[in-house]
Parts: sequence; structure tokens; C-alpha cells
Amino acid sequence: MRLQNRVAVITGAASGIGRASAALFASEGAHVVAVDLPGKGLAEAHKDHQGVSTLEADVSAADAADRIIEGTVKAQGRLDILFNNAGVALGGPVESLSDADWDRTMQVNLRAHFILCRAAIPHLRHSGQGRIINVASVMAEGTDYGLAAYSASKAGVAGLTRNLALELGKSGITANYILPGAIVTGMTTNFDDPAIAEIWAKKSPLRRLGEPLDIARAALFLASDEASFITGHGLNVDGGLMLRV
Ligand SMILES: NC(=O)c1ccc[n+]([C@@H]2O[C@H](COP(=O)([O-])OP(=O)(O)OC[C@H]3O[C@@H](n4cnc5c(N)ncnc54)[C@H](O)[C@@H]3O)[C@@H](O)[C@H]2O)c1
Repeated sequence: MRLQNRVAVITGAASGIGRASAALFASEGAHVVAVDLPGKGLAEAHKDHQGVSTLEADVSAADAADRIIEGTVKAQGRLDILFNNAGVALGGPVESLSDADWDRTMQVNLRAHFILCRAAIPHLRHSGQGRIINVASVMAEGTDYGLAAYSASKAGVAGLTRNLALELGKSGITANYILPGAIVTGMTTNFDDPAIAEIWAKKSPLRRLGEPLDIARAALFLASDEASFITGHGLNVDGGLMLRV
């Protein structure tokens, strides 16, 4: 029970990494507020997960901080862990990338992290063991064709999180980010094609794709007391995908 009596907000929790993390955190004693967009099957995704309550909200909406952060503190009395995980992968090659896809990517993948972190800081300070965990990507450091907006947003998450670590350390709050590799989730339906799945699996020395639980376990570690002296760190959870140049 490594998160006994902690209250955690996890965004993007109807699917993939967020869903697995909400279930894992709750199984370790946390009360989890699982956040996702309406119409994504959020309640259904957690109907068997004791300790998880659900909140339908858009992390990029103007009232997101109020509804998600202040709403959680009002309902649960405290906030100890903010896990910014919601993300989108939109766009295409720079030459044909629309303003709308660029803006939406930045709003969800980067701006929402900032807005929710800023609102959470006073509560995390009060917690005494505050934790921020932001989800970046290996595409924060590398990139691929068509991922200009996505890569830029994820590099932004890395920079934001390092700064949060610097500014919040004196308040006993740690801030770290995870760089997932190729993980089988709702975002990577292209892995349904065995040929594509094999290409990505082979990029890892471990010769497999990642599962949402691989990332959830890393997030659990960063959220736990065991990681209390780790801050400003970017943790690759990618099966070694980034080793080769
Ligand atoms: N799957 C991978 O290979 C991979 C690799 C690197 C990083 N990531 C990152 O992991 C995170 C989780 O993605 P996933 O792979 O589990 O994909 P996923 O599509 O299964 O889950 C993402 C969830 O975020 C939600 N979401 C999107 N926009 C939202 C918004 N505005 N407000 C609230 N919720 C919103 C979606 O509805 C979805 O349920 C993302 O930040 C993604 O960029 C994934």
C-alpha cells in the first residue's frame, strides 16, 4: 500500500496508460480522481476499480483547473499527486500541418499541464509529499515524420517539468516526467497491423512493445515515498528504444 491515504488526479484515464495507472494507484491505497473527456467510457473503464472516482472534463477547457483541481480538493479534502497524462497525437508534416492541429496539440499536451500544475501547487505544498508526474514521450528527444507538433509539445513538457522541479523543491514537491516508448494503447491503433507492431517491437532491445502497465509501474514509483529524492528527472520507459542512433 505505497500510496495509502494519498489523493491523486490522473488525466486521460479512460484508456491506455491513464486507465492502467488509475487502477494501479488505487490498488496501492490511493484515492484516484480519474479524468477524461465525456463520451470516452470513463465510468465504464473504472466500474471495477475500487478507490477510483471519475470526472468527465476537458483538460484544455477554461474551467479545467477549477473543476479538476479545486473540485478534487473540495471532494477529497487534499491533493498529493498530479499525474498529467492526457495527450493527443495530431497533425502531419510541417508543410501541411494546420494551425488548428498545432494549437490543439499544444493546448492538450502542454498548456493543460501548466494550468493544472499551477492550480495544484498550493495543495501539493500542503500535502508535504506532493508529486507531479508529467507524461512526455521519447518523441521529446527524438522525432518521426509527421510529429512536429507532438514532438514540440513533448519537449515542452520536459522543459516545464524541469523548471517545476527547480521552483518547487523547497516546498517538498517533486516533479518528474516519463518518456514512454512504443506502448499499445488507444493512441497507437496502428499497432493493430502486425507488420507495424513488429517494426516498433524490434526497435527495442527487449523485442517487444510496451504495455500501459509498464508506464503505470514507473509512475507509481515516482509517486511513492521511494522516489522522494528524485526530482527534475526524465525517466525513459521505452524498452531501450532510444539506445541506438
Ligand atoms: N502510446 C504510446 O506509444 C505513447 C508513447 C509516448 C507517449 N505517450 C503519451 O502517453 C499519454 C497517454 O496516452 P495513451 O498512449 O495511453 O493513449 P490513449 O489514447 O489510450 O489515452 C489518452 C487519453 O487522453 C484522453 N484525452 C485526450 N484529450 C483530452 C482532453 N482534452 N481532456 C481530457 N482527456 C483527454 C483521451 O480521451 C484518452 O482517453 C499521452 O500523453 C501520450 O502522448 C504515449
